[in-house]
Amino acid sequence: MSTALVTGATSGIGLEFARLLGARGHDLVLVSNEADRLDEVRAELAERYGVGTEALHADLSARADVERVAERARAVDVLVNNAGFGLRKWFLDNERADEERLLDVLCRAVLVVSHAAGRGMRARGRGSIITVASIAGWVAGGTYSAAKSWSIAFSEGLAGELAGTGVTVTVLCPGFVRTQFHRRSGISVDKLPDALWLDPRRVVRDCLADVDRGKVVSVPSRVYKGLSWLARIAPRRFVRSGGKITDHRPPLR
Ligand SMILES: NC(=O)c1ccc[n+]([C@@H]2O[C@H](COP(=O)([O-])OP(=O)(O)OC[C@H]3O[C@@H](n4cnc5c(N)ncnc54)[C@H](OP(=O)(O)O)[C@@H]3O)[C@@H](O)[C@H]2O)c1
Repeated sequence: MSTALVTGATSGIGLEFARLLGARGHDLVLVSNEADRLDEVRAELAERYGVGTEALHADLSARADVERVAERARAVDVLVNNAGFGLRKWFLDNERADEERLLDVLCRAVLVVSHAAGRGMRARGRGSIITVASIAGWVAGGTYSAAKSWSIAFSEGLAGELAGTGVTVTVLCPGFVRTQFHRRSGISVDKLPDALWLDPRRVVRDCLADVDRGKVVSVPSRVYKGLSWLARIAPRRFVRSGGKITDHRPPLR
């Protein structure tokens, strides 16, 4: 029996990963920070898919909690590094502790848990590591963009390192997805046109199809495939102003 560990499994993109992996018959290890909601989701998925489910309550900005998740990740066949949040204010307007917490969740936890899971998968000769980045990773827009750039470079590097071992690595780079993310981060997206919004289920379904094909970079939808291609070939001065398009914080003072 195959086991999948999903971080941030209680909401949005992570919840869809948990649902679709459960529907494929994987036992599930669900990680998030809010214990009551986690138990609720665990019970729902156990009943709906009839797979084994574990709730692993962890704050991925806390080192001891990340170690516990890494310990569990050693034995899983699929790892989804998904947990994350955004920051409403610009870098210098935020408390430094909030910026550090963002890096801890979006980068440090991904590094530590992938190291443990990747070693286990390589030794067994099979497995998949999926990390949720963002198209924000191709533009310059504060610590969030920088962290997502790191996720992309990290995943592409790990994919090369694991080539031929039976372990696949995929980085998912979505645009705007309808989840709790913007509300929880306090980011205003009221004026965003409908055409730019993605459905989380569709995003995850397309990503898993890319994982099955062994694709390293998964960008959902034609619109964002086009935009991400432009961001990768555009001169850096456009990439620098692109940060303001992919996030909706107040303008720079
Ligand atoms: N929505 C978008 O437009 C969009 C676009 C591109 C990329 N992304 C990325 O997609 C990923 C998922 O976001 P989402 O849109 O699905 O947002 P969401 O609906 O807010 O879900 C975020 C999930 O991450 C968990 N999480 C946050 N901080 C955590 C922590 N310190 N420890 C453990 N779990 C934590 C949350 O659990 P708790 O409730 O327990 O905190 C929740 O399950 C993130 O990495 C985000 O950067 C989102």
